[in-house]
Amino acid sequence: MKFLIIGDVVGRSGLNIIKNNINDIVNKEKIDFIIINGENSANGRGIKEREMKELFSFGADVITMGNHLYYRKEAKKLYESVDKLLIPANITNLVGHGVNISEKNGKKIAVINLIGKVGMGDFNQENISDPFSKAKEIIEELKKEKVDYIFVDFHAEATAEKIAMSYFLENDVTCVFGTHTHVQTSDETIYDTGMAYITDVGMCGPKKSVLGLKKEIAVARFVTGEKIKYECSENPGWFRSIIVETDDKTNKAISIKRYNID
Ligand SMILES: [Fe+2]
Ligand SMILES: [Fe+2]
Repeated sequence: MKFLIIGDVVGRSGLNIIKNNINDIVNKEKIDFIIINGENSANGRGIKEREMKELFSFGADVITMGNHLYYRKEAKKLYESVDKLLIPANITNLVGHGVNISEKNGKKIAVINLIGKVGMGDFNQENISDPFSKAKEIIEELKKEKVDYIFVDFHAEATAEKIAMSYFLENDVTCVFGTHTHVQTSDETIYDTGMAYITDVGMCGPKKSVLGLKKEIAVARFVTGEKIKYECSENPGWFRSIIVETDDKTNKAISIKRYNID
């Protein structure tokens, strides 16, 4: 099977570049399953019903989130009611789904969303439990369900924490991919155990921006030291994703490539 994984979608320009290209990619690459990180899809801050519906209309099988969980009040009820919209499973102060199991092409596919603890800025650490033990706990449950593939979106800042997670899970899952930094890394690889890995998928969002924010404001914040209100950039987007291919006989990952549009 072929899995398309799209990194943090930032605002309208991120949504537009997916909309304009997704059909071509799916047809050309023969994509079977799509995972999209939607944590910045609502104008850079969180997700609302509108953006969630758009991402599903583009073909997302599962949407994952990250630290941008609390910005949109209406999102709370979405987290509770939509089982294909995941929030990190190790968030302790919100009700939602941290894992989803779907069936496609006769395969049982699990997606897990986790959040890191290292260097997450002013994000409330009290409400994050240990992602490593949480991952193992979920995987033990998934083994009972006899799932064929497990994909893990590890939403984290620190490269070391992400790589450590990948080795921690290399015998248990199909793919660990990182999100959150909005900058794609070029370390995609297949481990000896048949697991695909990349430290960060990167973002689908405004190219000429600072991680999706208006560059003028982001620069001025650094230069002046003042807390000027951030605004999401509306500059044209670039597209950052990975495609993971699996062998349906062995259920192992056999290839991972970055698929980008500038
Ligand atoms: Fe993000
Ligand atoms: Fe994030």
